[in-house]
Amino acid sequence: MTETITYSHHYIPLTRDELVARLREALKDKRFNHVLRVEQTAIKLAKVNGVDIEKASIAGLCHDYAKQRPDQDFIDEIHRRGLDPELLNYGNAIWHGVVGAELIKDELGIWDEDILNAVRHHTTGAATMSPLEQVIYMADYIEPARDFPGVEKAREITAKDLGAGVAYQTKQTLEYLVERNSPVYTKTLETYNAWVPAYQKEID
Ligand SMILES: [Fe+2]
Ligand SMILES: [Fe+2]
Repeated sequence: MTETITYSHHYIPLTRDELVARLREALKDKRFNHVLRVEQTAIKLAKVNGVDIEKASIAGLCHDYAKQRPDQDFIDEIHRRGLDPELLNYGNAIWHGVVGAELIKDELGIWDEDILNAVRHHTTGAATMSPLEQVIYMADYIEPARDFPGVEKAREITAKDLGAGVAYQTKQTLEYLVERNSPVYTKTLETYNAWVPAYQKEID
């Protein structure tokens, strides 16, 4: 069942319907449906982890807002805002979160730093993540249409302990990148060091 949250805390100058309409314009069908599922998963995780469900709804819907922008938009933003030049060595997978958060601020009028950080860190994680950031990081990974080896284990671990879910996902992501000889964004390594050794027992 879809849960529709009424926005009343002014984290965003839009109603949920208006926000959904903006995402409908910004995203292709497949991605649009994904963000709706991430929102619902985030609301569920928020409830059991004592996180603000309005923030979970907004961050869940917005996390991939910039996913389908052309690379040049991100490159321009990195220069214009003086963001970390290391970002230029990566691509859409990193940019749509880290740089996407800046676009969300400007274009959707969201200034709540917790929501922005949840968007910023949804693919890389971070050494320190608020409960909302953890909720979005995990909701994106385990939403019901996700189907990859290990997703059931990720769901089980996350249901028991949100932080252990963060550790599990981070380890899987790092393994995936290393197996493919891909570069690892510095922040992803920081996430690994902060979370994986701390949850050794829970994720084995
Ligand atoms: Fe994403
Ligand atoms: Fe996503």
